[in-house]
Amino acid sequence: MATKIHVKSVAVVGAGAAGAAVAAALSAENYFERIQVFERRGTAGGTWIYDAEPDPLPLYPGKLPPDTDPALEIPEALPRITPPVEQERWTKTPIYNSLTTNVPAIAMSFSDSPFAYGPFAPHYIPRQYVENYFSIHKTDSFLQLNTTVEDIKKLTSPNDQSSERWKLTLRKNDALRRVDVWWEEEFDAVILANGHYAVPYVPQVKGLEEYIAKYPDRISHSKEYRAPTIYAGKKVLIIGNSASGHDLSIDLVGVASAPVYQSRRSKARWDGDGPLSGIEWKKVIKEYLPSGRIVFEDDSHLDHVDAVLYCTGYKPSFSFWNAKANGRPLWDYEGNKLIKTYWHTFFQDFKTLAIVGMPRTLTFRSFEYQAIAIARLFSGRNALPLPPLREQEKWETERAQRTKSEGKKFHDIPWDEGQTIDWLDGLFRIAGLGTIRGEGLVPPALSKELIWAVEHLRKYTEDPGEHEEHAGRGESVEGGWVVVQREKLPLGGLLP
Ligand SMILES: Cc1cc2nc3c(=O)[nH]c(=O)nc-3n(C[C@H](O)[C@H](O)[C@H](O)COP(=O)(O)OP(=O)(O)OC[C@H]3O[C@@H](n4cnc5c(N)ncnc54)[C@H](O)[C@@H]3O)c2cc1C
Ligand SMILES: NC(=O)c1ccc[n+]([C@@H]2O[C@H](COP(=O)([O-])OP(=O)(O)OC[C@H]3O[C@@H](n4cnc5c(N)ncnc54)[C@H](OP(=O)(O)O)[C@@H]3O)[C@@H](O)[C@H]2O)c1
Repeated sequence: MATKIHVKSVAVVGAGAAGAAVAAALSAENYFERIQVFERRGTAGGTWIYDAEPDPLPLYPGKLPPDTDPALEIPEALPRITPPVEQERWTKTPIYNSLTTNVPAIAMSFSDSPFAYGPFAPHYIPRQYVENYFSIHKTDSFLQLNTTVEDIKKLTSPNDQSSERWKLTLRKNDALRRVDVWWEEEFDAVILANGHYAVPYVPQVKGLEEYIAKYPDRISHSKEYRAPTIYAGKKVLIIGNSASGHDLSIDLVGVASAPVYQSRRSKARWDGDGPLSGIEWKKVIKEYLPSGRIVFEDDSHLDHVDAVLYCTGYKPSFSFWNAKANGRPLWDYEGNKLIKTYWHTFFQDFKTLAIVGMPRTLTFRSFEYQAIAIARLFSGRNALPLPPLREQEKWETERAQRTKSEGKKFHDIPWDEGQTIDWLDGLFRIAGLGTIRGEGLVPPALSKELIWAVEHLRKYTEDPGEHEEHAGRGESVEGGWVVVQREKLPLGGLLP
């Protein structure tokens, strides 16, 4: 029989867009007695906070967060005041000057509040938006800023082994006194909204570690990138061909020495048969030589490269999760997935733990569905109980097998195959019906305008070439953005 969930106090880890959605959904339930949103930065906004001065980041080729972002040693006998922590915690964000959103505003924003403008807004628009969202919902009072959750431990009552409470160890940096203040708090439930684009990943390549030691200023990760100016006239090699690799290559054309080299492992959605003007494609790097030469898999090479920018993404880190006390880790780095999750949101073996924001899919809007389903489940308002454990396990096993055999990632939920709508629909169903008095939040509808925008508006053309050619095949450029098959629906207010 399913354990009855009794939740009155909730801790939320992180005040990015996911934390903002969770706070709004919990608050609207008018049921929880204590809601705290712990955020290690000095403001809400998460990924979208712009750090003008990035930290010079250490590089650990091939290493994963358990090594690159280990848990801190927690002082004994809390509460306690200590000198500030010096260990690298990867708290700054990867936002660069030219970054704009790459999801149409109508589909990226939460349903109850539009972005200031769109369809693809500069980075400060989502930053302002997330911060303001806490005020709109009067959830800013839940925020505990400059406070890092350093440890999460499950507590079980000796009289009831199925009971669950959580002890959080918290560290607040007091910048004025230049100290860290440590203490503990207990909650009935924990919702993780800690994001997964903080700890950079650099792949292992033969000779790379020695190369970094010999040429310390040459290699960096895209997390450190802010503007092309410091690369003026330099010979630059970009590694990676996803959003960061593409954006940074374009940003550097015309500033760095020509061509900008880009090493690609896979073809991107937007790649045509050849690179854009000013860019030269290279294969994956085979080896770094002590002479400074960089050799590629096709045995071609580059000499005298001034800067190598690794746009090879990030790895999720859960350094706060006390795997020893809680019986298991949260993340499987080999399978690239959460362990024992259900519907990318709930956990099979922890009824009062949930996570928002892991799937690679529509972002803010999907956080809203996850947050509402969790809030209504934890408050007991009209939510459907989760399926029996066996069914949850089956969901996970089958998804893991299918995604592996298709060479896809467990938490990627593509739009094109209808998977996003199915997933959101599942959360919609778990949340259950609204009430006649309108208590709590109900999951929003996915309007036809939103669906149209996702399917027809692109930040980048998906087959580079002349705009006229695209117009001929049903694509056109409007307000600087690419509109695919424009004839299907009038643009309405979607374009600026
Ligand atoms: C360069 C870049 C560009 C992107 N562009 C887009 C885009 O155009 N469109 C789009 O939809 N998505 C984009 N994304 C994805 C983006 O991450 C999501 O839009 C969204 O911001 C994720 O929100 P989140 O709340 O899940 O995570 P985050 O925004 O990362 O927020 C997590 C928060 O948790 C805090 N935190 C973490 N650990 C702790 C802890 N232990 N204690 C306390 N606080 C903690 C962090 O400080 C952070 O504020 C982009 C991502 C990157 C890296
Ligand atoms: N708003 C925007 O325009 C914008 C800009 C930047 C980033 N973002 C977002 O930020 C997030 C992170 O994007 P990201 O581009 O930094 O990371 P990412 O999407 O994880 O892409 C990592 C890239 O590194 C490559 N790579 C990984 N390991 C490699 C290896 N061993 N050898 C060679 N190549 C390797 C990958 O190739 P494979 O594809 O072959 O794995 C991929 O091209 C995404 O959500 C993205 O949408 C958005």
